[in-house]
Amino acid sequence: MLDIAFIKPGLPRTGALVLPVGEAEGGGAEPPEGLRRAANEATGGAVERALQAAGFKGRKGQSATIWAPGAELTKIVAIGLGKASELSPEAAEAAGAALLPAISTEREATVSAEHLPPALAAALAMGAALRAYRFDRYRTKEKEEDKPKLERLAIAAADPAGAKAAWAPQRAVAEGVYLARDLVSEPPNVLNPAEMAERCKALEPLGVEVEILGPKEMRKLGFGALLGVAQGSQNEPRMVVMHWRGASGGAKSKKSGNSAAKPLAFIGKGVTFDTGGISIKPAGGMEDMKWDMAGAGTVVGLMAALAGRKAKADVVGLVGLVENMPSGTAQRPGDVVKSYSGQTIEVINTDAEGRLVLADVMWYCQDRFDPKFMIDLATLTGAIIISLGHEHAGLFSNDEELAQRILAAGKPTGEMCWRMPLGEAYDKQIKSDIADMKNVGGRPGGSITAAQFIQRFVNGKPWAHLDIAGTAWATKDQGSVPKGATAFGVRLLDRLVADHYEA
Ligand code: BES
Ligand code: MN
Ligand code: ZN
Repeated sequence: MLDIAFIKPGLPRTGALVLPVGEAEGGGAEPPEGLRRAANEATGGAVERALQAAGFKGRKGQSATIWAPGAELTKIVAIGLGKASELSPEAAEAAGAALLPAISTEREATVSAEHLPPALAAALAMGAALRAYRFDRYRTKEKEEDKPKLERLAIAAADPAGAKAAWAPQRAVAEGVYLARDLVSEPPNVLNPAEMAERCKALEPLGVEVEILGPKEMRKLGFGALLGVAQGSQNEPRMVVMHWRGASGGAKSKKSGNSAAKPLAFIGKGVTFDTGGISIKPAGGMEDMKWDMAGAGTVVGLMAALAGRKAKADVVGLVGLVENMPSGTAQRPGDVVKSYSGQTIEVINTDAEGRLVLADVMWYCQDRFDPKFMIDLATLTGAIIISLGHEHAGLFSNDEELAQRILAAGKPTGEMCWRMPLGEAYDKQIKSDIADMKNVGGRPGGSITAAQFIQRFVNGKPWAHLDIAGTAWATKDQGSVPKGATAFGVRLLDRLVADHYEA
């Protein structure tokens, strides 16, 4: 990840200098102070002349670049911060994200943030760090001059120690976001279920206990729904159970018989590739189905974030990892499988596989951990994209308080959800003539009937389901989320935990 340091204010000699500039209440850029004033003096007034000439007013989203302003500085970039009365962590983060592209061609850059309190300086760092993400593991021929060069970002703060302390937990969250984005970006020939399970072990040095279950263990438990999806693939399925014991004194103190409080539980759909199975998908765009494990990727990233910042909460993360393939051993439309809960499922469409995977993992989770709540994340339905586009994830919940808390956590993190309904009438759509239920409910309300299906495996526990099919992948850069894997949910759920569930 981008190396970010907080330093005492001082004019840099080399690289780029970034000046976040506010807009005066009466309009126009705030008068020059601090590093902006120093830079202006050092350049014989060139900075203010250039800002004037560029019509720079400090408005949000505005920027102006002054090339080769003197000495060895390559450039000075002014970024509009907007009015002081509207300055918030979100606005500081947006400025951090906005300044990044302007300096990515430099090896080093300094941001003047002396006028920002520590929390806002850290938010600015977060925006820059998240926007700097890039997945370039498989580019071997990129020209040196086309590669982003930024290695170190120095943020000049009035209180560098305070800003650094505010950044430390944010940095852990950014690491979690990076991990989730890496997992989601990996091609499906590399990231199969076994490989993804291996990568979960990267959490062990952070103090997370990681257990991996293979097909043998899952057969023994009776995971008929998950194994039915997996049976068409040469790549064996896995389930990974991650446990962060942050409330009960850290992972090291495993007191036996410790009747710790109920853990929080996060469950992710991890279909490392979804061809649809025998109900095969059309060829166009099928490559997107490499990110059908984004729910699981988010859960892994979230666990990294929580452990990385030593969250004072007991949290379990479970991911069901399978590949959905058509083959001579694949399950057929019409098959009836028996889930771990004992409930039977008629598989009408083998492409509605995510809910089958979640069914067994959810039941296992509530049965083993008796969690305080369960939140599952899944790229579950194309229908949620029709409902909400790419701006909100679908939120389904049987618990008013939990739902409200998730909605609220969306605002500061920019990971927005929209509440969707549940109800008996929808549940009726998944009645089967020969089994306890069928795995599809027809076209009307496709995301809702999928959620109804999952609800049959939560056993009445407080639960929320996030359908992230529309938000897991971005086709354009937006703020602190560059084009590609978004890691939607890592920040949202980290925030949920921080705001309500830490001791
Ligand atoms: N992984 C897909 C959902 C999906 C579609 C995610 C497009 C992202 C983009 C899921 O497994 C699926 O295939 N769902 C079906 C359900 C249908 C068969 C009831 C769908 O949405 O078409
Ligand atoms: Mn599918
Ligand atoms: Zn799928």
